[in-house]
Amino acid sequence: MGFGLDDAVLARYAPGMSTQLQITRPDDWHLHLRDGAMMQGILPETTRHFGRAIIMPNLVPPVVTGADARAYRDRILAARPEGCDFAPLMTLYLTEDTDPKDVRAAHTSGLVTAAKLYPAGATTNSASGVRDFDKIQPVLETMAEIGMPMCVHGEVTDSDIDIFDREAVFIDQVLDPLRQRVPDLKVVMEHITTKDGADYARSAPGKLAATITTHHLIINRNHILVGGIKPHYYCLPVAKREEHRLALVKAATSGNPAYFLGTDSAPHTDALKENACGCAGVFSATNTMACLAAVFEKEDALPQLEGFASLNGPSFYGLPPNSDKITLTKGDVVTFPEKIETGDGPVTVFDPGFPIHWHISQ
Ligand code: DOR
Ligand code: ZN
Repeated sequence: MGFGLDDAVLARYAPGMSTQLQITRPDDWHLHLRDGAMMQGILPETTRHFGRAIIMPNLVPPVVTGADARAYRDRILAARPEGCDFAPLMTLYLTEDTDPKDVRAAHTSGLVTAAKLYPAGATTNSASGVRDFDKIQPVLETMAEIGMPMCVHGEVTDSDIDIFDREAVFIDQVLDPLRQRVPDLKVVMEHITTKDGADYARSAPGKLAATITTHHLIINRNHILVGGIKPHYYCLPVAKREEHRLALVKAATSGNPAYFLGTDSAPHTDALKENACGCAGVFSATNTMACLAAVFEKEDALPQLEGFASLNGPSFYGLPPNSDKITLTKGDVVTFPEKIETGDGPVTVFDPGFPIHWHISQ
């Protein structure tokens, strides 16, 4: 195991009685910041608690080249609240035409941290993603050589594969064969939603890892569908049945360094969510750390929260953890805003469905 329990953390936390926990400032290893007025509105929700975030490249048009990533990074830096030193970790969107030389230059200069593989059509703005995985073999070989991780949206898109099976089928039919073709490639399975994903992610320590979202630790597919359809719980990959949620909770709270936090916080306006064809995405940046504390507390696993949210991600990416701390204190029920107002319209904040008692301070 990469990280043992930190004695200082344990001393501060005695199960059943402690109300305070101090952890290294967390990072978000999978985040959608969008652009323009939406980014301006939602960026402070992330920078309040997180030191860094892996920034997803699925803009319209996507962030495909090093030059695109540089321009997007500069827009993010310019949109940061006054005095904030949040660091965006940029990603490139892999297409069948991605130039390995551009990827090499963007990564070796420190501009770009990882590249994202979207199977074409798998999710929001993925139309320029990859259809023929053989076409990206040269770029994957370059990435393996320079130690640049590939983040992958792990779902097949075949219309004859049931949406609830798409992650498991992707692992068997696409991801495992791809990893055998490029064994040195570091891969992050993004937002896993199944026991199959959790099991596979721990099968190659240091080479393979997985991010887990806050909402997939809290909701299962009943929350989306029972008693009326809940568009704000709809995301991709879609939440699965309860046994899978329980497997994700077990993985996240296990202390295994193969698992770390990636919120996949993905804002869409209420008008686009509460719609006959509602967009996929849960917006959880505002209350993620408080919700996670509740999940870990319920499992009697608060000492593992720091590994999951603050240490395992940097370790996999070969980066140092953040040098400052945040404090989580249990107290009265916390009221979070129901919506974040942005220049594009309101964005509904994830509702965990139970009262949250954890307050976060710097
Ligand atoms: O629910 C999702 N929303 N899943 C994704 O993979 C993309 C994201 C978005 O960009 O809205
Ligand atoms: Zn995402």
